[in-house]
Amino acid sequence: MERRSFLPRSSSLSTLLPTSDEKYYLPRSVQQKRRFKLRTLLGHCFYRRVILWILAALALLILGLSTTSENGLRRERLLELVQSRPYEETHDVSEHVVEEEAIVTGSRREKVMVVTSSEKAPPPAWREGMPYWLRFKHLDGFFVGLKALVPAREYQPEHPRKPGEGSPFPLTISYTGLPTPTPYVPHPDYESEKYTAEHHEAQPCYLDKAKQIPVPEVYAYDGIIQGQSEPVLGSHNLLGLRDDVCFDRFGRYGPYGLGYTFEEGGVEVGMDTERTGNEVVWEKTGKINYDTIDWAEAQARCLDANKKRFRDPADKDQPSTTTSSGKGSGSGKAKQDGSKQGAQEDPTFVHSERPKKKIGRTAVVVRAYTGYQWTHHAVLNFRAMISELSLRSGGEYTVHFLLHVRDGNEAIWADPITAQRILDDNIPPEFHGLCTMWSEDQMRLIYPGGFGRSFSNPSSGSIHGVYRSAHMPLQYFALNHPEYDHFWNWELDMRWLGNYYELFDRLGNWGREQSRVGAWERSSKYYIPRYHGDWANFTSLVHNETAASGRPAVFGPVSFPGRVPLRSEASGESFIPRSCATRADPSCGVGEDADLITLNPLFDAEDSGWVFASDVTGYNTALPPPPRRCAIVTASRLSRRLLGVMHEENWRLHNSMFTEMFPASVALHRGLKAVYAPHPVFVDREWELAAVDKAFNGGRDHTSGGRGSPFDLRNEHNHKGTSWYYHSEFAGLLWRRWLGYAQYDGRGPNGGRSGEGTLRGGKVEEERASSTGRMCLRSMLVHPIKWEHPSELEDL
Ligand SMILES: *[C@@H]1O[C@H](CO)[C@@H](O)[C@H](O)[C@H]1NC(C)=O
Ligand SMILES: *[C@@H]1O[C@H](CO)[C@@H](O)[C@H](O)[C@H]1NC(C)=O
Repeated sequence: MERRSFLPRSSSLSTLLPTSDEKYYLPRSVQQKRRFKLRTLLGHCFYRRVILWILAALALLILGLSTTSENGLRRERLLELVQSRPYEETHDVSEHVVEEEAIVTGSRREKVMVVTSSEKAPPPAWREGMPYWLRFKHLDGFFVGLKALVPAREYQPEHPRKPGEGSPFPLTISYTGLPTPTPYVPHPDYESEKYTAEHHEAQPCYLDKAKQIPVPEVYAYDGIIQGQSEPVLGSHNLLGLRDDVCFDRFGRYGPYGLGYTFEEGGVEVGMDTERTGNEVVWEKTGKINYDTIDWAEAQARCLDANKKRFRDPADKDQPSTTTSSGKGSGSGKAKQDGSKQGAQEDPTFVHSERPKKKIGRTAVVVRAYTGYQWTHHAVLNFRAMISELSLRSGGEYTVHFLLHVRDGNEAIWADPITAQRILDDNIPPEFHGLCTMWSEDQMRLIYPGGFGRSFSNPSSGSIHGVYRSAHMPLQYFALNHPEYDHFWNWELDMRWLGNYYELFDRLGNWGREQSRVGAWERSSKYYIPRYHGDWANFTSLVHNETAASGRPAVFGPVSFPGRVPLRSEASGESFIPRSCATRADPSCGVGEDADLITLNPLFDAEDSGWVFASDVTGYNTALPPPPRRCAIVTASRLSRRLLGVMHEENWRLHNSMFTEMFPASVALHRGLKAVYAPHPVFVDREWELAAVDKAFNGGRDHTSGGRGSPFDLRNEHNHKGTSWYYHSEFAGLLWRRWLGYAQYDGRGPNGGRSGEGTLRGGKVEEERASSTGRMCLRSMLVHPIKWEHPSELEDL
């Protein structure tokens, strides 16, 4: 991509900075109260990082002599922006289901507890019109606490179970005391001989300029809570994610400020929850004072120290791998973590004076928007993301906020003071330097001209609007950032319960190892390990089903009436690697980075009943619409070349499709490598596995697409009890219980739904002597998290 021609405003604007008007770079007056209503609309924005660094440097320079007052102001600024009120559980939590007795074995005083189900009413008989899944009983194991931690080999899941296997409930647990967590490091061992033999040395990074504050480690417990369910959709093991450890709230977020006061530099949330034995997470680093941290500067310093490890975008010939995958060294006796080196070993360089491998870099682009109500929990989440992905990887990843300025009347391009005001009003100061602003008007400028008719436009939105074309600003962002090979599109209301590096690194590795043969067909189906068997069996099953369907498997670019070639296609280039000489060779695409990694299946939108399936623009409406694939939830990794092709489809061919459908369909049309990564998704009920398969793979030819799709408006309710879907009810409930706040458990006489049932969990319940303690969950993605602290409910 010719980036030069698209650089509108970096150096020119920095010369406009009024160097003497320092007061404009101070945080806004703390007296001025501002409240933002949380809006669920997705948002975004564009600004030059360089300028912000200059701004931040200026502010620091000027305020150099009065750092304490600056810190105070920063803190108050943050408080003003996020405002969380003190919270007390006003409802008495329900009666307990735990009985306890103490037994003395020798000198050891061991306690034994019996945990029974809290389902008050038996599951109702199915009635006409009632969603099928509501007839299944709720699962209890998620909510059992740390006293029930057992080694992985003793673990027995409540669900799914093999036929004939009994439920571990009522659960009998015996314990002598709370277990202790240990640091959890999923990064490669950068100091190992193996690593340094192949890669340039990694320099450690720090939170501060003086290199006094090391980046903390997350803590995990070695083991699993007895009886907790396994994921039903997807798998830890398949993707190389550890499934033999669990995380509690303090191990996960304590290092970033959960559980200690503002005076100590924390965010003060989590102190209103049960917290026995949480001090251990601060033993190594102390309670870190985050008041003065500037994350953009920390990332820049880290990258600078590690520059030579990474591929230089100007040098195309360097050997490169996308990640520096190595063996994680998590707590305890780590079992093989599944991350493989295989595909990256290049025998060409295995002799004495071999050049060291350079690593490709990845941007994580978080879609922020003006009006978003920041909270302390959200701040913690992004501190964790930056620390784990960027600072602890020595700059392999960089986190950016693409800030959508929704008011088109704001002169963000003309006036740096306006831009600064928007940051002050909308983004916590510690993240200002990560922001790039954009607006829909800007997209009209970048992608001018008529886009032609749409087959349908159910939302009646503009083609340049964020709702229908959320990727436009990401495409433009990629053009302006040639230093990255891949771009994660991420949203504010997603959380990863675990270490972010483990998630993104393993997904990238897994995507690279996948064959292109049958990839579109496998990706169109939810993988249910306990039902489909291992991945080889699943691959064989999909192969057989495809053969039985009578439809040819997708391989390479698809042709369709009215297809217009890309410029590269017209000049004879192709995205198909040389290893793909025949469409039967399973090594085709193995070792090739995926252009698109999605977190839900890539389903055929045709006849799927998905509301926006025909929101297709720019193609000849006299012909049938082109073939389409779609993945719900826009969180996904896109390669530079995929974004480049989408850019050309937009500006040159004036082709577009509804947001969730555009990247996948472009990849399909142009022969790019796309995979759905079956990450672990949990369900709240004891589904029969055949029913899971029927509900989630009930589309055409046993896929998730076409007629009968789970994404049909009438079928989407099936996702409400899962941990990952845009309208999931379970994700928020589980997450807030894990954070330590009482929630209505959703268990009621009509099968139970969100908001029904009894108030369970929270401080009062978890602190009772008869409680099993605070929750500890295996790693998982949760979405949507619309609120976290109970006081936020009043703002909704
Ligand atoms: C392979 O998959 C089929 C179809 O889902 C299933 O019936 C069979 O039990 C699986 N085999 C194994 C070994 O898991
Ligand atoms: C697919 O078909 C082959 C040949 O009929 C059979 O051997 C194999 O077991 C089938 N795979 C699955 C998972 O059913």
